[in-house]
Amino acid sequence: MAGISLGCDYNFEQWPPAVWAEDVALMRTAGIDLVAVNIFGWASIEPRPGEYDFSTLDTIIALLHDNGIRINLGTGTSSPPPWLTTRHPEILPVAADGTTRSPGGRQAWCPSSPVFREHALALVEQVARRYGDHPAIALWHVSNELGCHNALCYDEASAEAFRAWLVRRYGSIDALNHAWGTSFWSQRYTGFAEVQPPRLALSLRNPGQLVDFQRFSSDALLDHYRAEAAVLRRHSSAPVTTNFMVTAHIRALDYWSWAPEMDVVANDHYLDHRLGDPDAELSFAADLTRGLAGGRPWMLMEQSTGAVNWQPYNLAKVPGQMLRNSLTHVARGADSVCFFQWRASAQGAEKFHSALVPHAGTDTAGWREVLELSTTLDALAEVAGTTVRAEVAILFSWESWWATDTEARPSQDVRYLDQVHAAYRAVRRLGVTADVVAPGTDLSRYRLVIVPCLHMVSDEDAAAINTYVADGGHAVVTFYSGIVDLADRVRPGGYPGAFREMLGVVAEEFFPLLPGHQVTLTGGATATLWTEHLRATTAEIVDRYADGPLPGVPAVTRNSHGQGTSWYVATALDDDGLRDLLRAAVRGAGVRATGPESDGSVEVVRRTGGDRSYVFVINHGRQDIEHPVTGRDLVTGEAVPGLLKVGAGAVRVVREEPLG
Ligand code: GAL
Repeated sequence: MAGISLGCDYNFEQWPPAVWAEDVALMRTAGIDLVAVNIFGWASIEPRPGEYDFSTLDTIIALLHDNGIRINLGTGTSSPPPWLTTRHPEILPVAADGTTRSPGGRQAWCPSSPVFREHALALVEQVARRYGDHPAIALWHVSNELGCHNALCYDEASAEAFRAWLVRRYGSIDALNHAWGTSFWSQRYTGFAEVQPPRLALSLRNPGQLVDFQRFSSDALLDHYRAEAAVLRRHSSAPVTTNFMVTAHIRALDYWSWAPEMDVVANDHYLDHRLGDPDAELSFAADLTRGLAGGRPWMLMEQSTGAVNWQPYNLAKVPGQMLRNSLTHVARGADSVCFFQWRASAQGAEKFHSALVPHAGTDTAGWREVLELSTTLDALAEVAGTTVRAEVAILFSWESWWATDTEARPSQDVRYLDQVHAAYRAVRRLGVTADVVAPGTDLSRYRLVIVPCLHMVSDEDAAAINTYVADGGHAVVTFYSGIVDLADRVRPGGYPGAFREMLGVVAEEFFPLLPGHQVTLTGGATATLWTEHLRATTAEIVDRYADGPLPGVPAVTRNSHGQGTSWYVATALDDDGLRDLLRAAVRGAGVRATGPESDGSVEVVRRTGGDRSYVFVINHGRQDIEHPVTGRDLVTGEAVPGLLKVGAGAVRVVREEPLG
């Protein structure tokens, strides 16, 4: 599709025919380019087993097509209709405590159920055959947010599939016993038939089994995606994708393994007001999505115009916020901005979820902001296809997330994502653009690599980081990194095992802190959560604890390793402390900031392509700001002769060019 597309989910099944024409007319007014339909369509298009009725979907697709709107067509399999769960209750998911989850919500199916798979693929076959060649179909949307609710299923079908997965991974039961360390607590298996999913037990569960179950569960859903995609590809040449949930509260899917299977990477993002800094998390998610897309443009498949309905407190967006959120995604690589959903539902669990057309109708500030977004995206058309170039990489790993946040760890308050977010926030406050990439990525093009809490890391990926530094790179590693291998086995000889030599330090014991306790460093920063009994071997000591359980012990070190430099941060520095440390690392590495330092309220990101360059300046703050840039404002067309004024809460996008 040309330009930056604007789109939405259209759940027309919730509305009588009289509303459809009005909806499509309004979509034209709003400049909607792409509409997702049939996302929850199963009960409508297969009202009874094997009886298909496409009449309404045909009508809607024709209506959209006649109005020049392209279609993002759902396979419709995300939620089985009641006739299916009634006839086949064995497809229902089972929780870790062994209880079955009832239908009545959505996604009530076990990812490993052969019965569900058979019914779902039969539906996809019908949909793909009917619409595979339809000229309006721009994209296929497999299921919906696979694994949002049902990622971990502990029923018998899952147990069987888990065993088959383990046979493929380990080949022999001896290898599995070794990997899971089953000599401990008399857990040794004599055959795969004895292995179960890690259902709730009386005590702590086997951590190797837990992490493998996460891997298996991610693979099981990816396998479902592949099966649906294969049907679509037999009938259609349109691109195929599904909507990822790169977000703070879903961690079940290792999207590094999923991304290569997507024709275009798409993400759903909602501001999460349970977090300390939702705006920073939005930027992080966008950068991680760009990482998943291999740096190429990606789609924002869902966001909200205002409040959602599923957080404890569902905050509305203040004027300008929706525009800022949208353009932050675009600044960080999105070439389309889509929303859930078109018209606010009158009924159902999402009736208080915001939408492009609110309950109050179109004489509303919300609707006017949608129109403004539409005009803005049209003006940004030439940005489409350009990419973001960063000099800093932050490593991100779903496996480390699983392994860090597992049972039986030094501190339940050390949460992987918190540590990654802390590092990201600091970089963002420095005005520096970062890529978020997988461990194992070729790091040679980055001036600085940040390795936050990379607790679980393979020998190869650790070696890649160590070699990057030895070859002249700069790295910052934070605590609890490099501790275990992919089998969750501790690397012997002192922490942080995989990076000990590269960092020039060794720790003999962790000293986590109680909640509410804080330590002070001799340099003045404070820290919480974590300290460790660290000794510098070859590193120089940058800062020490002034108090707490380990006074005088190194807290921050810097090492020369080969041609490069590596920092180790052995504690959870406060935000300013981490920012100060990263500022030193950024400067030492010669990283050029894209924007000014701020408290996070100003974001400046550049997209480039060929000889074109666009600067996005997003001002989340309450003060007007000025940013040095020369070129032309893409929205107003005005010349920007060296200094751009960006009002409080505004966003401006400038094509950089010499002014004649
Ligand atoms: C997503 C989902 C949508 C809608 C939305 C509400 O998880 O894909 O169908 O439920 O959240 O925020």
